Amino acid sequence: MRKLEEPAPVFHIRAMEPVDLPAVDALERAAFRNPWSLELMRRELTHEWSTIYLAEEADAAGGKRLLGFMVFWLVHDEVHVLNVAVAPAQRRRGVGRALLQAALERGRRHRCVLATLEARRSNAAALGLYKSFGFREVGVRPNYYADDGEDAIVMVADL
Ligand SMILES: CC(C)(COP(=O)(O)OP(=O)(O)OC[C@H]1O[C@@H](n2cnc3c(N)ncnc32)[C@H](O)[C@@H]1OP(=O)(O)O)[C@@H](O)C(=O)NCCC(=O)NCCS
Repeated sequence: MRKLEEPAPVFHIRAMEPVDLPAVDALERAAFRNPWSLELMRRELTHEWSTIYLAEEADAAGGKRLLGFMVFWLVHDEVHVLNVAVAPAQRRRGVGRALLQAALERGRRHRCVLATLEARRSNAAALGLYKSFGFREVGVRPNYYADDGEDAIVMVADL
């Protein structure tokens, strides 16, 4: 957790491009036991209703370091968050919060009124992040995750 006297870090948020695929794929693999395939991520880039935001910051060599990403859809009046991951060494710095903030702002600009997502029942970090944005639990999908049968918590927030 950030100390109160520390300034909030500034992350650069931008839309992912095909050239970013290897770095995003590496982060996905570092973040999940059952990661999305590179092919799935590549296909996501081709859907006009889908956006992938990247969070970056400058590194010591003057380049950009990828900190995290978020995949979301804008469908009618709804933002649906499909995936979010922050590099393990960069967690608890506000990167997930910055990505979610940016996604919800984009949704509001597109006149979305609702945001939805699912999270594993055991994923305290994700549930904590979502609740801090006003997401509330509205249901459970039993045995939702094919790999281990864990339940998904369905969450909704008004925008
Ligand atoms: C979930 C995840 C994206 C959060 O990213 P993050 O950048 O570390 O989150 P932030 O630093 O922006 O945290 C924002 C808030 O979320 C909550 N939170 C984040 N990590 C938490 C944790 N480990 N335990 C409890 N609450 C947590 C807190 O409320 C936190 O605010 P605070 O730091 O002021 O207390 C990250 O843990 C991750 O990549 N996990 C692996 C992938 C994953 O599970 N994705 C979600 C799929 S549904």
